[in-house]
Amino acid sequence: MMKKLIAGNWKMNGSLAANEALVRALRDGMGAPACDVALAVPAPYLAQVQALAAGSALALAAQDVSQHESGAYTGECSAAMLRDFAVRYVLVGHSERRQYHGETDVHVAVKAQRALAAGITPIVCVGETLAEREAGQTEAVVRRQLAAVIHLNGHCISEVIVAYEPVWAIGTGKTATPEQAQEVHAVLRAQLAAASPHAAKIRLLYGGSMNAANAAQLLAQPDIDGGLVGGASLKAVDFLQIIAAAQ
Ligand code: 13P
Repeated sequence: MMKKLIAGNWKMNGSLAANEALVRALRDGMGAPACDVALAVPAPYLAQVQALAAGSALALAAQDVSQHESGAYTGECSAAMLRDFAVRYVLVGHSERRQYHGETDVHVAVKAQRALAAGITPIVCVGETLAEREAGQTEAVVRRQLAAVIHLNGHCISEVIVAYEPVWAIGTGKTATPEQAQEVHAVLRAQLAAASPHAAKIRLLYGGSMNAANAAQLLAQPDIDGGLVGGASLKAVDFLQIIAAAQ
């Protein structure tokens, strides 16, 4: 079975002092985890967390990457800059980027391509809003979002990680049931299988109010290969329990 990935997405949270306490607690409490573990930290803290995590099983991730290579793009971080800090993964197309920063499927595809070109694994986020779910559009929405990245120039989709994050479950305490999540993951897996012989090896993460209490059940689903954890990744005890649940 493939190794699961538990990725914490700190979003716009943290401080030098809080990050240090959190990463030290994770290092001390984690032992040798059975899964891969990553922390997606705000860009200003990449250097700090790189140093704190050095020599541990914690991999570094970023929350976004510019669609441009370099130049006059004030406020942006390039994939090469992320690479300078040994960033292994980058979130691309998180629903908060799509919703508040106008990111389209086209932007998401270009960003994924930039990450891959720099040797960074994109974690491409897909997911429907509550209105879309209620209108019966869940499958169409996630299939459209995944289709945008399925044929990247010169790269195989098996180099990408996909995260299914139903927007209505993010930060709401409303988790998709394991069955609801598995249903969508199966759709994504089938779409990947139609495009790549390596579909079974592509990691599909679930995100949206994953916590210490519900992680084990979600992670037990056949097509759920890890978690993308927001709020619960800010609390060492909770995040450690999620890591322990990912066997
Ligand atoms: P929560 O775990 O806080 O719902 O956030 C999920 C998420 O958006 C992770 O990227």
